[in-house]
Amino acid sequence: MLEMYLISVILASILVLPFALKTFSPYLWMDILYFRVLLRILVTFVSRRRRRPLFFVLDRFLEQTAAHPDKLFIVFGSERYSYAYTDTRSNQIANALQSHPRYKAGDTVALFMGNEPAFMFTWLALAKLGSPVALLNHNIRTKCLLHCFNCCKSKVLIAAPELQEAVKDVLPSLTEQGVVVLLMTKHCDTPGIESFSDKVDEASDTPLPRSLRSHITFKSPAVYIYTSGTTGLPKAAVVNQNRLVTALAVLSSNGVTASDVIYLNLPLYHTAGFVIGFVGSIETGSTIILKRKFSASQFWDDCRKNNVTIVQYIGEVMRYLCSTPKRENDKDHKVRLAIGNGVRAEIWREFLNRFGNIQIREFYASTEGNVGFVNYAGKIGAIGRVNFLHRKLFPYTLIKYDTERDEPIRDANGLCVVAPTGETGLLVSKITDIAPFVGYAQNEEHTERKRLRNVLKKGDLYFNSGDLMRIDNDNFIYFQDRVGDTFRWKGENVATTEVGDILTLSDCLKEANVYGVQVPGHEGRIGMAAVTVKEGAQFDGSKIYNHVVSYLPSYARPRFIRIQNVMEVTGTFKQMKMKLVEESFNPGRIQDPLYILDDREKSYIPLAAQVYSSIISGSIKL
Ligand SMILES: *[C@@H]1O[C@H](CO)[C@@H](O)[C@H](O)[C@H]1NC(C)=O
Repeated sequence: MLEMYLISVILASILVLPFALKTFSPYLWMDILYFRVLLRILVTFVSRRRRRPLFFVLDRFLEQTAAHPDKLFIVFGSERYSYAYTDTRSNQIANALQSHPRYKAGDTVALFMGNEPAFMFTWLALAKLGSPVALLNHNIRTKCLLHCFNCCKSKVLIAAPELQEAVKDVLPSLTEQGVVVLLMTKHCDTPGIESFSDKVDEASDTPLPRSLRSHITFKSPAVYIYTSGTTGLPKAAVVNQNRLVTALAVLSSNGVTASDVIYLNLPLYHTAGFVIGFVGSIETGSTIILKRKFSASQFWDDCRKNNVTIVQYIGEVMRYLCSTPKRENDKDHKVRLAIGNGVRAEIWREFLNRFGNIQIREFYASTEGNVGFVNYAGKIGAIGRVNFLHRKLFPYTLIKYDTERDEPIRDANGLCVVAPTGETGLLVSKITDIAPFVGYAQNEEHTERKRLRNVLKKGDLYFNSGDLMRIDNDNFIYFQDRVGDTFRWKGENVATTEVGDILTLSDCLKEANVYGVQVPGHEGRIGMAAVTVKEGAQFDGSKIYNHVVSYLPSYARPRFIRIQNVMEVTGTFKQMKMKLVEESFNPGRIQDPLYILDDREKSYIPLAAQVYSSIISGSIKL
């Protein structure tokens, strides 16, 4: 079915191509090259889908290992691991886990670990055992950690040693559920937590029989990646095997090859780091320079030392790099390609001027979404380009959106209205066999919320990206904004209702309206909350601070709190945000008491006018 569809699309496209070529476009050559890349991806994909036994990402890793066992796969500081070592180490982890009496091959396992080689070894081990893996964000704690863990029905938790305290916080609940808790250390004295590295070291490194994963199909979940959607706690997006196999193409389609060295400093629990960086490198057979976390001051020295040729970024990364002090050797490196998303046009220009001739491949994709774009033409500021074949395969469109009512505009027949060229609209993409939307684990309600029906025809079904875009006359696509109740800060999505829910769990707060405000010199928006205090209670800055710190990761904590006597609501009882966002945290415009989160004081303290000016002038960084 799928293959027939692809083949007919390819044929139709080839027949139409000569006509398309007649319309002159300055980007014609790039379009043709991209067309060729798409065709090659399709052919590879279709032939892989035909292979028996079924072909998954792990099989690609095994192919690479067989082809060049001694090649460097992962470099982590002074540690260097070849493909062969990675393979045998993951065999040991898999064998150690398999001999655990309470684990069965195929059980879901949650991985709670920062960026380190063991993350990759463990994921490969679990792939060999046919176990889906929940990639927990290592910044989350207590209630949120438990919620994320429980989303995916994991039977085992494997945690990094430095996260022992975080695991201890939730241990009673894990123990009660009979979860096996393994810590990647050689000894562990905490009852209920078992040391695991010692068992791995002793385990055999014989390959695991294929039969352990014979139950897996393309529809089986491969990993769960957590996303903060518009409402509630983080949701686990189900990334199935098919999607991972598709994702193999992301780096290779951008010209990355086995001789490239990839600098991976984005978190491995997110799509950019895991799917694009790690899985992408498995396809190309490249070397990964793995970094525990992004550091602007070490970035270029790391690249020089390791002969890095490819870097990954998110918008914030580019800005941080541009704001480091200029150095004479800024252009002295081998980086030829930067791939990522979210860089603003002005930063893009500055980056090129300062760091030399680096190709920037800006792309758009979301963890759970069913459409993605890549700006293969290098047009500054764009996230992609409308391409005939691409649009045939992934029928997407921009529809008019009412930002006040927070819903798509519909016509008299109840259908959505396509946004004209040059106008901003909501990106929606038809849900089809080759562009499926799998949804979130154990969360049908939120999955359904991302589905949009009766878009262009009665009864049709689209994925609602939640992103506003614009397509210009030259067919370039530009990201405009996110709709609804999320904002981005430090590269993470923050769900306002999730933060609001947590604030109102505290002793003294009655209501909380959370939103993001812009700060000059920073990407995204920083969290702010307008709150009301419970009757008879007092706002206690240090109590709220402790509450916020124990429930929310640092990027989601409201930096500013504004105390209101009554919360303004709209006619439909939605909280008013527009005016609050506009007034921001400017004490000159706000009469209400204003507080700022102060990590040194471990409290929310009144925001002084002087502090405000220092933030605006950039002498205080947030
Ligand atoms: C980087 O490249 C230079 C020159 O090609 C080479 O001498 C050096 O050994 C390389 N360094 C690493 C870490 O591969």
